[in-house]
Amino acid sequence: MSASSATAANRKENPRILIVGNAGQLGRELEKVFAGVGTIIGVDRESVDLADAEQTRELVHRAAPDIILNAAAYTAVDRAESEHDLAYAINQQAPRVLAEEAHTRNALFVHYSTDYVFDGSKSAPWTETDAPNPLNVYGASKLAGEQAVEGVGGKSLIFRTSWVYGPHGNNFLLTMLRLARERDRLSIVDDQIGGPTTSIELARATHSIVTGILARRFDTPEDWTGLYHMTCGGSVSWFGFAQAIFARAAQLLDLKPPTLTSIATRDYPTPATRPRYSVLSNAKLQARFGIELSPWEPALEETLQALRNAG
Ligand SMILES: NC(=O)c1ccc[n+]([C@@H]2O[C@H](COP(=O)([O-])OP(=O)(O)OC[C@H]3O[C@@H](n4cnc5c(N)ncnc54)[C@H](OP(=O)(O)O)[C@@H]3O)[C@@H](O)[C@H]2O)c1
Repeated sequence: MSASSATAANRKENPRILIVGNAGQLGRELEKVFAGVGTIIGVDRESVDLADAEQTRELVHRAAPDIILNAAAYTAVDRAESEHDLAYAINQQAPRVLAEEAHTRNALFVHYSTDYVFDGSKSAPWTETDAPNPLNVYGASKLAGEQAVEGVGGKSLIFRTSWVYGPHGNNFLLTMLRLARERDRLSIVDDQIGGPTTSIELARATHSIVTGILARRFDTPEDWTGLYHMTCGGSVSWFGFAQAIFARAAQLLDLKPPTLTSIATRDYPTPATRPRYSVLSNAKLQARFGIELSPWEPALEETLQALRNAG
């Protein structure tokens, strides 16, 4: 075997996987599930400022990846209303640069987007062919990121997901558990409906698809490159989600559940407007890759169990 074919064979067996944003909710889980797949190069803010295009390019050159998983994003939905440029630098420019560098290297680029690209006006799950119409800067910057990645071409997967939470980071579950220790009563919005999705399930589904691609189970890149919705099954309001959290947390985490009051969005004004109904249909993901994420209730149970086991 020549030196170059030996290197190529080694890369196929042991791909270099760059995980951008490895300290975020999703990034942490991706790093765990991809550990056995190849050589992991995990980076976060300490190694790269994604608002800086040159640093971002340099990062890819140094890492020389075969696969880039971009779990980084500007995710502060309300703050984005007053940090438009920063949100676009991280949610549009950085994915474009990463996609360009991936394309140059013929690497696979995996990116994530949001249900907040939709305006919430439907009352049935949104599909990939529905027209986006973001109501806030975060959603608009993420939509711009999708379009930038699609504009680059190359082998890419964009997974739109929703209401992400997990055992680490800033999320609704951990906020509820903290607030329950501080207060006896909580008022929660009951007229926004979505699909709570765990970072654990997202990482698993990504792993299943990427390893399937590596094993050539999904035909050619032309057949699988594209945009897919990827969420846990089912839907619920924030209020219903909070009820489910406290019902189980009381038993599993020995927590005294607060009294919950259901309120309307207009009673809880926030800088960013959020969609009323942002449930995503996963039919395309299921049809193309044959996978389905867990319904949200068992996924919540798994996350609460993980929190209990972590003490
Ligand atoms: N969270 C949700 O509810 C939700 C809903 C729908 C879609 N999504 C999408 O799902 C994906 C994963 O989200 P997530 O909830 O796991 O996000 P997350 O926990 O907020 O993690 C994002 C990561 O990106 C890093 N980052 C932000 N700005 C950076 C910069 N300038 N340079 C380097 N790193 C930077 C953050 O670092 P710091 O912590 O230091 O800022 C953080 O580690 C994102 O594409 C997000 O848009 C999330």
